[in-house]
Amino acid sequence: MLRDKAMSGLAAAGDEAALEAWRIEYLGRKGQVLELLRAIPDLPAAERPAFGQAANALKGELSAAFDERAQAVAQLKLAAELAAEGVDVTLPGRRPQLGRLHPSNQTLREIYGIFAAMGFQVYTSPDVETDEYNFELLNMPPGHPARDMWDTFYTTTPGLIMRTHTSPGQIHAMRALGPNRPIRVILPGMCYRYEQVTARSEMMFHQVEGLAIGRHITMADLKGVIAEFANQLYGAGRKLRFRCSHFPFTEPSVEADVDCILCGGKGCAVCKYTGWLEIMGAGMVHPTVLRNGGYDPAEWSGFAFGMGPERITMLKQGITDIRYFFGNDLRFLEQFG
Ligand code: DAH
Repeated sequence: MLRDKAMSGLAAAGDEAALEAWRIEYLGRKGQVLELLRAIPDLPAAERPAFGQAANALKGELSAAFDERAQAVAQLKLAAELAAEGVDVTLPGRRPQLGRLHPSNQTLREIYGIFAAMGFQVYTSPDVETDEYNFELLNMPPGHPARDMWDTFYTTTPGLIMRTHTSPGQIHAMRALGPNRPIRVILPGMCYRYEQVTARSEMMFHQVEGLAIGRHITMADLKGVIAEFANQLYGAGRKLRFRCSHFPFTEPSVEADVDCILCGGKGCAVCKYTGWLEIMGAGMVHPTVLRNGGYDPAEWSGFAFGMGPERITMLKQGITDIRYFFGNDLRFLEQFG
């Protein structure tokens, strides 16, 4: 019988595609039920009403059964999807990766802390500088031979360069905070040099510049501040020595050494058997630089210094290659919690 065949076919239709095929087969415009209705005109007149009623009843019954089955199939599909997407709450969770401070930033923060205790505020100036600030105002006019100490990255804009040191920040600080007011700032930031990258030199690195301007500042103040800094950072009882040096923006200029933190001055591979480690360049701010910053050198004096936090970190942590700092290798970075 058509009805039984249709009903068992419907019960067997387990997904949307099978249901649609069934609908076309039985209830479609060319389906078997409409075919019955279309056959009515060919029947003897007496049989037509009963046949028509029976065919319509079958159509209604099959339509209702189809709707019911379609709903059931949709429910089954939803249940299957939910089961597949279910969360297994007994699975162990994924460990979140904890971030940590970059070793350079750890050292920078240590430096900020030491100088903050001595009354130095942090002042920042731009990474992209002008030739004027990076060199000229620091007493190095165009063609000055001392410029050779800083191999420079030039931009495509004439006069615009990547700063090779944080010293131009001295001029910015003096012009912004002065004139006629004392200054005590440190200026941290990235510096850039057109250098052959090796284990000992990178083309980008941090510096921390220091600047103190006042009416009676002498070299004794410089020495006291650096000695205090060295004792705080490298350990109490550190020996400090100043060597004569030359920077165009300081007069006199020095380089400061501490006794080697590894061998205590006896001589080792780290201090190259000298017993001393260079920690910074420094000096008394050159009168020309004071004047360029807006200060009258007859009335004002000051000291300045510049150091490299990566170098400091290398010494303290026994890191032998500066390229690790900006190589973004987690195996390196993860060692500094
Ligand atoms: N700017 C120097 C450099 O990059 C470091 C330096 C030396 C900074 C002496 C100073 C200073 O402020 O007084 O090599």
